[in-house]
Amino acid sequence: MTPRRTEMLGLSAEDTRRAADILAAGGLVAFPTETVYGLGADATKDAAVAAIYAAKGRPSFNPLIVHLQDVAAVARYCEVSPEAARLAATFWPGALTLVLPLRRDAGISRLVTAGLDTLAVRVPDSSVAQALLRAFGGPVAAPSANPSGRISPTSAAHVRAGLDGRIDAIVDGGTCAVGVESTIVGFDGGATLLRAGGIPAEAIEACLGGPLGRAVEATDNPVSPGQLLSHYAPRGAVRLGATTVEPGEVLLGFGHVEGALLNLSLNGDLTEAAANLFAMLHQLDQMGAEHIAVSPVPNHGLGTAINDRLTRAAAPRD
Ligand code: TXA
Ligand code: MG
Repeated sequence: MTPRRTEMLGLSAEDTRRAADILAAGGLVAFPTETVYGLGADATKDAAVAAIYAAKGRPSFNPLIVHLQDVAAVARYCEVSPEAARLAATFWPGALTLVLPLRRDAGISRLVTAGLDTLAVRVPDSSVAQALLRAFGGPVAAPSANPSGRISPTSAAHVRAGLDGRIDAIVDGGTCAVGVESTIVGFDGGATLLRAGGIPAEAIEACLGGPLGRAVEATDNPVSPGQLLSHYAPRGAVRLGATTVEPGEVLLGFGHVEGALLNLSLNGDLTEAAANLFAMLHQLDQMGAEHIAVSPVPNHGLGTAINDRLTRAAAPRD
């Protein structure tokens, strides 16, 4: 791909307009959401969406999430069942993605859905994302703004480190509050958890009044390609559930543990740990850590999403 000059944009009305104009012209703009930074493009333009795949080096079978301003906009592109509407009313704007039947006349590029007849949609809560969506006025396809298979970005500096010279602009909106990607729920044969994320599954089950189905284990031919095993990976090898530190390892701690170089949350707070997770993995990368041990993290609430990302970080690489 041809190198591009990557503009750094702030939060002024002028810069927001500039970011929206770049999207309208078919360009690529990274922007903050409350979960992670997204790499946005006009979801109706094939060439713009193809450029996302090229900039990330992403396998082309991996479909993208479309970001919209509100549930009314979502209903223009998708069929919203009563069950989906209930989740939307409770959790949007927020860290929940719904996979819904795509309307035939929606005008969404087939590169966004990778040919599926469903569309993943999300209404983000971040005021910066909302301002950009309002200024642009259309559907914005946006995967996380990192090279494919690498750690997701939770700051503009992370985006720049991964994609400088490959995208048109980065909107710097500071650090992402949630820090892990959205929870993804599909409705094929009943509400199903396709990816653990920023909204705990327990909260979604409480809203639905029953258990979520669970998608099959990670494979190379995934239902939701966020299930690809090696993903979110730092450069060093990762060992999970560590209660000791071996020679040559650095410890990424959780709670009151001895000898941790970095600690996801000294108080054992899962919300704080989620917000720190990717930033600390980026930090370990920058330090050149070759062997990373990670303390056990409880597997409930946001801990499920944290363990999911850590398991992928620890998975065998190609
Ligand atoms: O928090 C987030 O979700 C962030 C921010 C930027 O919104 N986005 C994000 O996008 O994590 P990405 O592309 O890294 O992950 C999208 C996930 C992938 O696992 C993809 O396979 C799944 O959504 N997905 C997209 N469309 C789908 C569909 N029609 N059916 C099933 N899974 C789908
Ligand atoms: Mg991603």
